[in-house]
Amino acid sequence: MKNLIVANWKCNPTTLKEAKQLFDSIKKSAKNIKKSEVVLCPPFVFLKELSFFKKGSLVFFKLGAQNCFWEKFGAYTGEISLPMLRDLGCEYVIVGHSERRKYFGETNEIVNKKLKAIIDAKLTAILCVGETQEQRNNGETEKVLKEQIIKAIKNISCSKFHVSNVCIAYEPVWAIGTNNPCDHEEAQKMGLLIRKIISEIYSRPVSQKFRLIYGGSVKGDNAAGYIKEAGLNGLLVGGASLDPKEFLGTIKSIE
Ligand code: PGA
Repeated sequence: MKNLIVANWKCNPTTLKEAKQLFDSIKKSAKNIKKSEVVLCPPFVFLKELSFFKKGSLVFFKLGAQNCFWEKFGAYTGEISLPMLRDLGCEYVIVGHSERRKYFGETNEIVNKKLKAIIDAKLTAILCVGETQEQRNNGETEKVLKEQIIKAIKNISCSKFHVSNVCIAYEPVWAIGTNNPCDHEEAQKMGLLIRKIISEIYSRPVSQKFRLIYGGSVKGDNAAGYIKEAGLNGLLVGGASLDPKEFLGTIKSIE
C-alpha cells in the first residue's frame, strides 16, 4: 500500500496565477516519487484549471476537495455537490476537518451525511477526527475520538466502509497550525486507539485494512517518524503544503 500524502491548501492562495505556480513547482520536482500517492486539495475555484493543467502531463498526483455538500443538486445556495466535484476530476474529499467543525458549525451528524454521500458518489473520503487541547487536558481524548467516529460512520455498513476505501486522519486540534506536532509515540498510540474503535464497531480485519494518516504541523523534518516509527499510512499536510520545497521535502523524507 502506498503512503497517502494529502496537501490541504485551505483558503490559499488568493489568485489562480499563484495556484498554478504552486501546482507547477510541485509537479516539476516530483517526478521521482514512487512510494506515495499524493493528493492536492486546493480551494474549489481552482479545481477546474488544475485538472486541465494536470491532463496530458505525466503527473503522479490526484485532486481532492476540502469539503462537499451531501445532496446531489437543488435549491441549496452556495453549496458544491459530489457529482460536481467528480465532474471536475476530484477523487478525494476531506470531511470533518476541525476548522469546519469550529468555524462552520459542522456537527458529527453533518459529517455523517457528507461521509455517506461521498461513499455513494464513489469518491474517497478523508475523515478527520481529533481532540482539542482542553479535551486532552481533561482526559477526554478517547471519548471524543469514539464519539466522532461512531457518529461519523453511523448507518454505514461494515462492507460499505470496507470497499469504499475511507481513510481516517488523526488530527489533534492542538497540533494544527501550531508548530507543535504530536510526537511519534503518541501518534502511534492514537492510531492504535482508532483501529480499536473501528474493530469494535465493525471487525478486526476491517480495522486493519483502512488507511490511517496523521495531520498537524507536519514538515519535512518530522514526517518520516509518523510512517516509520508510528506505523501510520500517510500524512495530511496544511501549512507546509503551500511551500513547494517543504512539501517535496516532506514527501521525499518518507519515500
Ligand atoms: P497544518 O494543518 O499542517 O498547517 O498544521 C494540517 C491540517 O489542518 O490539515
